[in-house]
Amino acid sequence: MAHLFNRNVVLGVSGGIAAYKSAELVRQLKERGADVRVVMTRGAQEFITPLTLQALSGHPVHTELLDTEAELGMGHIELARWADLLIIAPATADLIARLASGRADDLLTTVALATAAPKLVAPAMNQQMWRDPATSANIDTLQDRGMSLVGPASGEQACGDVGPGRMEQPVNIALAAAGLFANGALAGRRVVITAGPTREALDPVRYLSNHSSGKMGYALAAAAVDAGAQVTLISGPVQLATPEHAERVDVVSAAQMLDACLERVKECDLFIACAAVADYRPATVAAGKIKKDAEHLTLELERTTDILATVSGHAQAPFTVGFAAETHDLEQYARGKLERKKLDMIVANDVSDTAIGFNSDQNAVTVFWQQGSCALAQASKSTIARELIALIAQRMEAPDG
Ligand code: C5P
Repeated sequence: MAHLFNRNVVLGVSGGIAAYKSAELVRQLKERGADVRVVMTRGAQEFITPLTLQALSGHPVHTELLDTEAELGMGHIELARWADLLIIAPATADLIARLASGRADDLLTTVALATAAPKLVAPAMNQQMWRDPATSANIDTLQDRGMSLVGPASGEQACGDVGPGRMEQPVNIALAAAGLFANGALAGRRVVITAGPTREALDPVRYLSNHSSGKMGYALAAAAVDAGAQVTLISGPVQLATPEHAERVDVVSAAQMLDACLERVKECDLFIACAAVADYRPATVAAGKIKKDAEHLTLELERTTDILATVSGHAQAPFTVGFAAETHDLEQYARGKLERKKLDMIVANDVSDTAIGFNSDQNAVTVFWQQGSCALAQASKSTIARELIALIAQRMEAPDG
């Protein structure tokens, strides 16, 4: 079954008779693994109650743009950022016209403008309205802007007319949605991804660590699964759900992460080091809890092994991709690491910008390889992950490596 595992889907429902089919669409999307949030226009609520879609999606339905309560929860910008995909089904002639003219006069059109996620539109209207040149021009505009269309189907309409304009069946909309993500860019490839922080014990109760959330590595694992890869995620301690269909190996320290990676290096085609591995660990781990008797405490630290450099230096090294978090001179430092660690690619991000990186849901990166580079503009980590996986797959196939 075409799946939507690990996908956040915002379903926009506008006011047409086909809105009753949106209930079945929510079910279809959830059955395929998507997490679904519903946005309804006022018109849609005349045809189907928010309660129905709330019960089916398992989340409150979003209806108002200017609702203080709602904005305190998941506001319109959060919703727009959260989405991996926006489906509008049914999309009435009026909604399509408002999308085409870039209006933001209700919650649904605002989310549509504010999201960088792909958009799938399922038109539903009377056959004459569908055939009208104004609607055709609006549809052309949406497609020119990169939105995908599913349907409409032809047949008998609620108004008694016969012709094109019926909303496509929910099962076909769900299939089209899954089709937008599925790609075979890494089909048959075995991918190992490190993610999250490591913890280096000082004594039985304390450790040294960092703020890495693991979100980028987990998003990469989900994107690699979608690209058809067999994925192993070697993860430090994080508060994240394992992406569906990825194998997860939990580790705590840099030494454990190194062992877990080396065990798999020979059976791996692509290694992506996304973890924020501790560079130093306490030279000795105290057997008992260190007491706070002394006014000053000096810790002796020793270097941990560079996992990425070890993997890239292996006799049967896979295609290796590293990350470089920098605060300045991004390209210079990133290219330095590319050379020094003998990597195929390096993904650099500017951690001086608090809107992106570490704990944020957003990221913006520049990828460097020997002969080139590519900047990926700010977007959700899952969008960046998909773009990165596509770029890596392309470079793996490139004749010059
Ligand atoms: O040298 P630096 O720590 O900035 O390099 C970052 C890259 O190296 C990241 O890809 C990180 O996952 C990896 N790394 C590693 N093992 C270490 C330190 C960093 O794999 N001990």
